[in-house]
Amino acid sequence: MTMRIAVVGGTGTLGAPAVTALQARGHEVRSLSRGSADHPVDLSTGAGLRAALDGCEVVVDASNGAGAKAAQAVLVDGSRRLLEVEAAVGVAHHVAVSIVGCEKVPGLAYYRAKVAQEDVVRSGPVPWTLVRATQFHDLLDTWFSGAAKLGLRPSLAAPVQPVDVRDVADAIADVVDAVRGHDAAGGRTLSVAGPQAATLAELARAWSEVTGRGRVPVRVPMWGGLRAVAAGVLVDESPDVRGTTTFASWVKGAYA
Ligand SMILES: NC(=O)c1ccc[n+]([C@@H]2O[C@H](COP(=O)([O-])OP(=O)(O)OC[C@H]3O[C@@H](n4cnc5c(N)ncnc54)[C@H](OP(=O)(O)O)[C@@H]3O)[C@@H](O)[C@H]2O)c1
Repeated sequence: MTMRIAVVGGTGTLGAPAVTALQARGHEVRSLSRGSADHPVDLSTGAGLRAALDGCEVVVDASNGAGAKAAQAVLVDGSRRLLEVEAAVGVAHHVAVSIVGCEKVPGLAYYRAKVAQEDVVRSGPVPWTLVRATQFHDLLDTWFSGAAKLGLRPSLAAPVQPVDVRDVADAIADVVDAVRGHDAAGGRTLSVAGPQAATLAELARAWSEVTGRGRVPVRVPMWGGLRAVAAGVLVDESPDVRGTTTFASWVKGAYA
């Protein structure tokens, strides 16, 4: 059944494929962001939200704020503003995107903001679903590309389980499709992870083999907030949804 859906952050790494996946299922989708020509909104102030959400049945929040200050303003306070407007205009369901294991990395400010965002959603006025994903392939690509500019390959003994954003977008579309059915009441948290776990060192080597860049391995000490990551807390051995695209095959596709 067709629904009118707002994707906040609909131009982002996850938001854009989420818009595509929802449109492919026949939904009417509005893409909201600061840079949107049709539906400009700013979660850090609340500007534009009322007009952009008017008439929407479901909201998918795929926005992001990089850095501790922006994360607080966009993810935490922004979620509060967003949910308030959703309740006022009668949105039936809120889908928030979070991170597998974020509550186990209290040493990193961004992860603390994600936990606070989850709390805002759980205690908010709109029925909700939390979609917790592992790290996106794109994120690892950004890290490895940055180091490769110096000819380096970061060698971290930290296991992760990266996922293709298209797999996360499909999982979000499944959640949206279930809103009219058994999941109308919400209150569910589901995890989406990549097909296999590997250390960042192994993944960086795979990236270097495909791209021919970043040939000099450099050991990165796992201290502070990263110690929890080294212990494997970002991995989910039995996710609710397991993506199918490995990091190596994603890199091959991205650099073909
Ligand atoms: N990256 C990962 O590996 C990863 C893994 C698991 C979960 N997640 C979660 O997935 C979500 C999306 O992450 P992403 O990496 O796809 O983000 P992204 O690529 O940085 O995209 C962020 C989106 O949010 C919009 N945005 C930023 N500030 C805004 C504001 N003040 N008001 C309204 N829109 C704003 C941006 O558009 P404008 O700049 O035009 O506003 C853009 O569309 C986040 O909740 C993140 O925690 C990410």
